[in-house]
Amino acid sequence: EETEGERLAELAKRRGYFFGASGAYGGAAGFYTFGPQGASLKSNVEDAWRERFTVQEGNFEVEAPTIMPEPVFEASGHLDGFDDMLVECPQCGESHRADHLIEDETGIEEAETLPIPEVEDLIEEHEIQCPACGAHLAGEPVDDFNLMFETNIGPGSSTPGYLRPETAQGIFVEFPRIKEYARNSLPFGVTQIGRAYRNEISPRKSIVRTREFTQAELEQFVDPERDEPDLESVKDVEVTLYPATEQEQDDGGYVETTVGAAVEEGIVGDAWVGYFLGVAQEWYERIGVDMDRFRFRQHLPGERAHYAADCWDAESEVDGDWIEIAGFAYRGDYDLSKHDEYGDDEFTIFRQFDEPKEVEEAVVEPDMSVLGPEFGGAAGDVKAALEDLAERDPSAFEGDVVEVEVDGETHEVDADVANFRIEERTVSGEHITPHVIEPSFGVDRTVYTLLAHAYERDEVDGEARSFLSLSPEVAPTDVGVFPLVSNVERLVERAEGIVDDLRTAGFSVVYDDSGSIGRRYRRQDEVGTPFCVTVDRDGLEGDGPDTVTIRERDTARQVRVPVSDLVDELRAVESG
Ligand code: GAP
Repeated sequence: EETEGERLAELAKRRGYFFGASGAYGGAAGFYTFGPQGASLKSNVEDAWRERFTVQEGNFEVEAPTIMPEPVFEASGHLDGFDDMLVECPQCGESHRADHLIEDETGIEEAETLPIPEVEDLIEEHEIQCPACGAHLAGEPVDDFNLMFETNIGPGSSTPGYLRPETAQGIFVEFPRIKEYARNSLPFGVTQIGRAYRNEISPRKSIVRTREFTQAELEQFVDPERDEPDLESVKDVEVTLYPATEQEQDDGGYVETTVGAAVEEGIVGDAWVGYFLGVAQEWYERIGVDMDRFRFRQHLPGERAHYAADCWDAESEVDGDWIEIAGFAYRGDYDLSKHDEYGDDEFTIFRQFDEPKEVEEAVVEPDMSVLGPEFGGAAGDVKAALEDLAERDPSAFEGDVVEVEVDGETHEVDADVANFRIEERTVSGEHITPHVIEPSFGVDRTVYTLLAHAYERDEVDGEARSFLSLSPEVAPTDVGVFPLVSNVERLVERAEGIVDDLRTAGFSVVYDDSGSIGRRYRRQDEVGTPFCVTVDRDGLEGDGPDTVTIRERDTARQVRVPVSDLVDELRAVESG
């Protein structure tokens, strides 16, 4: 018996959903091409995501480059921290992801959260072998492997760049521009749908773990002390949660609750994260994820990415395995602080006080006519050191002499010359670094889940059939149009006219006149087309207006409708 994943990969290839890329040249592991059906399904998923997470939320969508210069990833922490654990087979040279090998062989899931020596011990203890050639891997070193693809920008190799490993960085680095567009006023959200690249050690499960994939990400920028999400709008949404505390107990179980209760009881620690779990739950349900095979799982402390203070994953079940399809991370001020520190721009926002405040400010105005002759070329540095000291430690100016250090040398400055004083000033606000809550969706994994969860089998007229019960919102083709037979010109012409009319009305349509009508229905069932329209003689030869049949995919039921009502009828059934 085929596994769900094998069946899906076979159907995907045969029906033009997706297949390994560059097959004529042997392909390269971890790269897939979406065929006509898949490209359409994927773009419908992206449209549905855009509608919910950009349009409905009132957010801003951007499109940044996929290649960025090295300093971006020095600042973001990806150069140092974006690693997986690699072990190489001494016999056949094949590279493997160490934590995956351990999980596959022993069922131990937390290997990825352990330090390298403990992972090496597990390989030894469980006598893990190379899946390619069977050689023992005990005693082999496990190394950190950085997942970013490196490239050179321009001729020569002077400017290294990297293909972005997450779309998020394209949003963070442009924050100084986008905040102006947002009129410097929090909260606001910025979205991006685009490609991300990771040189995965072992790509697997077809489009689930690839080296080039599409993310749909939302970076929600908030003032952590002032901004609240609209929790009210999702408080009653029911969710299945798998908190870290439950996972840590051997008999750990799920918490079935509502978003409102989960936030109130502190199961989900942050209201914004809770809000997005609720929005995502409803969105996934709407586009056709099977909610009996869906959960939110909290990351274990050792599992979190270098930037995340807390993270929940949306997971779908396929083949008995849970696949992470989205992550909801509380990134705090990690990213903007880093770019503020490394970049040449301001990654803060000015927060207006409710009322202007009187503040005391330390001021030094050294007398340069004295400092100049006394310190010569170092006078400017001494002045800067005095200003710095005044900010850090005003008490240093209490005596007759102030000591400052310049280039490791201590200099004494007369207090009168330093000219230090405290001034009262009125300020209207302060600069703060916004916090970020990040819902990050994998589009490819969403497509995979939809296909896996939509696959159904039943019997129609005593014959077994399989079909994809894709929701009309995302199905690649809206309508199949068939003349009952292909050798009666009148039927063919009428059917072609209907194709034109439906396309003009915005439906995506396929025309098919080859093979028996039953076979044509099965073909559309198998790719998940929700409706088929058939033109037959009966419909054109009656006394009244011309009619056609509409057949609904899941029930295989047919209704006869006047051709003139077809567009309205299809719109009505499509929107349920
Ligand atoms: N900006 C946050 C971020 O990138 P992530 O959990 O590493 O977080 C987010 O990735 C989502 O991207 C995942 O939930 C998954 O759906 C998708 N994703 C990550 N790596 C992938 C891969 N190698 N192939 C396909 N999808 C992947």
